[in-house]
Amino acid sequence: LRVLAEQLRSQGREFYIGAAIPSNFSSSDQAIVKREFDIVTCENDMKIGTISPNQGQYNYSGGDSLVNFARANNMLVHGHAFVWHKYNPWWVDGTKTMMENYINAVGTHFKGEIYVWDVVNEAFHKDGTYRINAIGTNGQDGASVFGQRQGKKYIEDAFIAARKVDPNAKLIYNDYDLETRPAKFEGVYEMVKDFKARNIPIDGVGFQMHLGPNFTKADADRFAEQMQRLADLGVESYVTEMDVGCPDSTQNGLNKQAEIFGWITKACLEQPYCRALQVWGIRDSQSWRINPESPEDRAIAPLIFNDSGAKKPAYYAIQAAMVEA
Ligand code: G3I
Repeated sequence: LRVLAEQLRSQGREFYIGAAIPSNFSSSDQAIVKREFDIVTCENDMKIGTISPNQGQYNYSGGDSLVNFARANNMLVHGHAFVWHKYNPWWVDGTKTMMENYINAVGTHFKGEIYVWDVVNEAFHKDGTYRINAIGTNGQDGASVFGQRQGKKYIEDAFIAARKVDPNAKLIYNDYDLETRPAKFEGVYEMVKDFKARNIPIDGVGFQMHLGPNFTKADADRFAEQMQRLADLGVESYVTEMDVGCPDSTQNGLNKQAEIFGWITKACLEQPYCRALQVWGIRDSQSWRINPESPEDRAIAPLIFNDSGAKKPAYYAIQAAMVEA
């Protein structure tokens, strides 16, 4: 896949193919990544919960080792993520000072090494309203301590702080279910439009793309339209965390999954403002969806390499879409 992405770029198409890297990155995983990908994300090692479990202390070892691996192998790094409502250690109080200090410290540490930062992650509820307080009968669509402390303004302030600290990094807003919940996309779209109108620095939107086997071709077409609307604002799109549950473990199940990977790759490559497609992990056995916190996220064999690292039909579907592009 990496060779195909290089070919596309040599023809003037700025597109990268990538993966999220788990903390226990084995040498056989490294071999796969070197061969197949040219942009990498830390699955957890650049989150505040890993970097700064205690106030004022910073542990960059995991992030640094991925940055070094990427540099040694001529790859880009996707930073994930400055501000999120989850995975926050005890000291995160959600205030503007706390937030800006954190972005300054971490952004300074990684300055110049990051192609694109997820500045704010998952700041909208599924109905397209801002995630401030929890909603849902059991409050399952959780609150954000940043929203509770600062209102929705924390989002633009985070982008302003991120631009200031690392002016050459692209800055994106990253979320899930945008392609399957039109109301959620509309909320994000209105925010991005408003940011562009007021010169708040934002370069793109990340579609996480955690999908299941019921994702349809019509959904993929909607995704293409959404990317076009963003492109019309001068805003890039990124597929940041793709995985697709299979309907079952049969060959047909793997082929269904492959079809969905193919649709999304094709849509991304047909959109000149779509910059990257990244999968969220390497082998099926490593996926967060094998044993997720919420049962509705559970999925069968969601990645493009099987447990032993062999290429699945989903891999070949991405490859075919890249060859055709
Ligand atoms: O590091 C500890 C380890 O010390 C301990 O022994 C172990 C026991 O459970 O837990 C380890 O931490 C876990 C960590 O993954 C590393 O494996 C956390 O409990 C667990 O919550 C964490 O889950 C990650 C989750 O984000 C929360 O940060 C998943 O790996 C990661 O795939 C997932 O990724 C998110 C994206 O950041 C945002 N979009 C959705 C996506 C999937 O939920």
